[in-house]
Amino acid sequence: MKVIYPGSFDPVTNGHLDIITRCSEKFDEVIISVLNNNKKNSIFTVDERIELIKESTLHLKNIQIDSFSGLLTEYAKRKNCSTIVRGLRAVSDFEYEMQMALVNRKLYPQLETIFMVSSSKVSFLSSSVVKEIASFKGEISCFVPEIVEAALIEKFKGGTR
Ligand code: COA
Repeated sequence: MKVIYPGSFDPVTNGHLDIITRCSEKFDEVIISVLNNNKKNSIFTVDERIELIKESTLHLKNIQIDSFSGLLTEYAKRKNCSTIVRGLRAVSDFEYEMQMALVNRKLYPQLETIFMVSSSKVSFLSSSVVKEIASFKGEISCFVPEIVEAALIEKFKGGTR
C-alpha cells in the first residue's frame, strides 16, 4: 500500500521520524509531502525542509520526499494515492484531525485517513517547541536528528528571529 504523510515539517523532529519510521515498516511506499504554504511563517524553505528530511531518513528504503501546494486531496489524486497518514499525539490533536479527515473525504470520497498514535516518548514534541528552545540556545539534541540540530543552530546563530 502507498501512503502520503503530509505536513509542514518546519523542521522535521523525532516526533515526525517516529511516525515515518513506523509507516515505512507497515506500508510499501511512503510519500512524505512537505506543504508549501506562504501563509505559514516558516523558518526553513521548502527545499531546506526536504533536504533535512532526506538526510534524516537515509536509512529507510521505501521513502519518497516531495512537496505540494494547494489542496491535499488534489495532490493525492495526482499521486494516485488514496491513503493519508496523520500522527495523533494527544486528545487535543483529535478534533482538528477529525475535521480535516472528514473534509478531505468529502472532497475525495475514496480517500482514507489513517491515524497513527505517537510514541509516548515524543508525543509532547512540536516543531514550534523545538524552534523556541533553539532560539534561546537551549539543548535540542534529544528532540531532533543531528543534521536538524545543526541547521537550527545555524538559523539562530545571530540571535532570535
Ligand atoms: N510529532 C511531532 N510533532 C508533530 C507530529 C508528530 N507526530 N505531528 C504533528 N506535529 C506538529 C508539527 O510539528 C506542527 O507543529 P508546529 O505547529 O509547532 O509547527 C503541528 O503539529 C502541526 O503539524 P502538521 O502535521 O505540519 O500540520 P499542519 O496543520 O501544519 O498541516 C496538512 C497539515 C499539511 C495536512 C494540512 O494543512 C493540509 O492538508 N493543507 C493543504 C490544504 C488543504 O488541503 N486544506 C484542506 C484540509 S481541511
